[in-house]
Amino acid sequence: MQVQVIKAAPNDKPDLWLAQSRSLAQILVDSVAAGAAIGFMQPLSLEAAQAFWRDTVALSVIQGERDVLIAVENNTVLGTVQLVGNMPPNQPHRAEIAKMMVAPEARRKGIGRALMHAALRTAKGNGKTLVTLDTRTGDVAAPLYASVGFKVAGSIPDFAYDADGQALHGTTYMYCKL
Ligand SMILES: CC(C)(COP(=O)(O)OP(=O)(O)OC[C@H]1O[C@@H](n2cnc3c(N)ncnc32)[C@H](O)[C@@H]1OP(=O)(O)O)[C@@H](O)C(=O)NCCC(=O)NCCS
Repeated sequence: MQVQVIKAAPNDKPDLWLAQSRSLAQILVDSVAAGAAIGFMQPLSLEAAQAFWRDTVALSVIQGERDVLIAVENNTVLGTVQLVGNMPPNQPHRAEIAKMMVAPEARRKGIGRALMHAALRTAKGNGKTLVTLDTRTGDVAAPLYASVGFKVAGSIPDFAYDADGQALHGTTYMYCKL
């Protein structure tokens, strides 16, 4: 069985979304515990992570603000990425990549790249011509993004705290023209 990338459908398939959001919450908890720079601080409880996926993300998808893509193999959720499309009125052509993560045990098998290719296809299908993202400067995610066509726009020092709150790190902005 090969890894498939599917679109989450919390409104059409709420039971499936509930099951998927539990797995996504575990991936988020594991990623943050390992120090991922993904917007959350340690310690992140499973309950808080579940609420984030089950409620916050689901609402945003239902409101048409974003697409959530999920990598699945044999009904097991292995990774995810989001494409945020609700931009200011003067940027209808732009979308942003967010919350890219792969389960620790499934990394370095090309799942991140498959998710990014699917996100770019989705962006194109949504009529977008520019996709942007930011990533911790020096993070292993940067070569992944570069490998699917993203270019570095520039970096901002001391942009956010590390997940353990001990130090600040820079962020690098990247873009991909479709
Ligand atoms: C970043 C992340 C999503 C990569 O997912 P992945 O499925 O392991 O990535 P892939 O296997 O598709 O790797 C694609 C490319 O990215 C780069 N890469 C990925 N992980 C790497 C690592 N640990 N070290 C060096 N390069 C790495 C490589 O260039 C790789 O290509 P290669 O395997 O042909 O050399 C994963 O490490 C992750 O979930 N990290 C925690 C969450 C996070 O920090 N997300 C980024 C937010 S901006």
